Amino acid sequence: MEKLIDLLTNEVSAAFERAGYEARFGRVAPSNRPDLCEYQCNGALAAAKAYKKAPIQIANDVAAQLRACGAFSKVEAVMPGFLNLDLDEGYLAAYVDALRSADKFGLPLPEAPQTIVIDYGGPNVAKPLHIGHLRSAIIGESVKRIERYFGNRVIGDIHLGDWGLQMGLIIAELQERQPALPYFDESFTGEYPEKAPFTISELEEIYPTASARSKQDEAFARKAHDATAELQQGRRGYRALWQQIMAVSVADLKKNYANLNVSFESWLGESDAQPYIQPMLDMLEDKGLLTESEGARVIEVARPDDQKEIPPCILIKSDGATLYATTDLATLMQREQDFHPNKILYVVDKRQSLHFEQVFRAARKSGIIRDETELHHIGFGTMNGKDGKPFKTRAGGVMRLETLIAEITDFVRAKVVENQLVDASDTEDVTKKIAMAALKYGDLSNQPTKDYVFDMDRFAAFEGNTGPYILYTIVRIKSILAKYGKDSALPIQAPTNKEAKNLMLCLTRFAEALQTARRDYAPNAICAYIYELAGCANKFYHETKILSEPDEQKQQGYIALIRVTKDVLETCIDLLGFEAPEKM
Ligand code: ARG
Repeated sequence: MEKLIDLLTNEVSAAFERAGYEARFGRVAPSNRPDLCEYQCNGALAAAKAYKKAPIQIANDVAAQLRACGAFSKVEAVMPGFLNLDLDEGYLAAYVDALRSADKFGLPLPEAPQTIVIDYGGPNVAKPLHIGHLRSAIIGESVKRIERYFGNRVIGDIHLGDWGLQMGLIIAELQERQPALPYFDESFTGEYPEKAPFTISELEEIYPTASARSKQDEAFARKAHDATAELQQGRRGYRALWQQIMAVSVADLKKNYANLNVSFESWLGESDAQPYIQPMLDMLEDKGLLTESEGARVIEVARPDDQKEIPPCILIKSDGATLYATTDLATLMQREQDFHPNKILYVVDKRQSLHFEQVFRAARKSGIIRDETELHHIGFGTMNGKDGKPFKTRAGGVMRLETLIAEITDFVRAKVVENQLVDASDTEDVTKKIAMAALKYGDLSNQPTKDYVFDMDRFAAFEGNTGPYILYTIVRIKSILAKYGKDSALPIQAPTNKEAKNLMLCLTRFAEALQTARRDYAPNAICAYIYELAGCANKFYHETKILSEPDEQKQQGYIALIRVTKDVLETCIDLLGFEAPEKM
């Protein structure tokens, strides 16, 4: 469907033409004085210069033409030459009724769907998920759902951190604890045990212990380094042990992400990029792009017009080791080969922005990425505590994601139980849905780049700009629809009061909200939209007797209107990554 604002622009442009002026002056915008009118057109002011006439005269000429067009119930030419417009009620109802039955509520879809890879999540294997990974998961999942809603083919890739020093630390620590395991016996040629020699909770204890020890014990630190190198060079026992760490860790990660309503199409990691590294380095050497810098091999990525210094991208350290950038560049090679994507998005902490700038430039300079492939880093800010510093546990440690989710769930459960919102058998399900809405909306309603304060009381409140408020609005509509008990057979009727009209006007802005959210990678645009829509819905509901309305035609029109409102709200929260319960 064409957007309402574009249809109105067409009407006004045609009126300019009929009045003898150029159509290009007819652009319509939502009113910036909603107390005076719903829409406005300021084109007569610009036309006045072109035609050397008083703007009010032009506005009057156009207004005379517009009154006949049927789209507006009020057309006013006011000094110095503005056109103030109110939409015709019947025209509006017909538009919203068409939107109700259109695919995706009439959202215009791009003609050629794109292939998009989204790199998000980015957890590090064997290290517990911490809340730094929370934002990547929440924002990435929403961006993915939005891109997919527009018809694109989207591959969410978790890009596991599965190849670093943490692996060597775990191997070294395990060797100290259980030296008799076959993984450490270099002469062992048999089959390694099927069962991992640790559980996930043991693994999560082993890593921090080893990490702390390596800081005090130099010999141990060296051992861990050597183990990492040997693992990467392919030592059989270490590879087998690594497989075990991966299996145990990935199973746990899958469980955690499932709890967050987050899922990935691809579970590749840094290790999967390793086979691409040598061919890539050879290619770069062949093209003469690698230069020597203090014993390291680097690719220069600075440009003459740079405002700030962009250091070279280091690909091989002086000791021969490869780095984070090497892996990311090789991963780009792999993605190009596997998917030939139009666009690759990275949802990663904004503190890594220099890294991505270097990698993107290196990828373009070397031709690893085609010129037309878009690369974009969606850098997000930090989640802070009420003290304005990065969120910590009460004891001052790094907060684990699981702990944070448990805390907010307990907080919400207490409210659900205290207010007797649902039957005991539904408490858990409803609690989880509200907690997810509180957490995700609390995050996504902020611009991704901004830091924000995690405030459980505010996020979980049932009133105000919160996830639970949105859920509450949806549940309220669901309960009216359930009481009414049948579908409306009639179209949406022309609004008879301000509240109904405002609700309809808000519904017409769905497509714009989604387009903004997609263009700016800004799920917050969807949050702002549904907060407004929920407000309009609640006001309408407050002013209108729906279930006791005696006029059948009116009543069915109301039912059709609140149903489409609910459908739009539910579609939007699905794009944000949470869902509404039946009751609350
Ligand atoms: N594992 C990394 C971290 O915890 C994030 C990975 C982001 N993705 C990427 N392709 N570099 O910081």
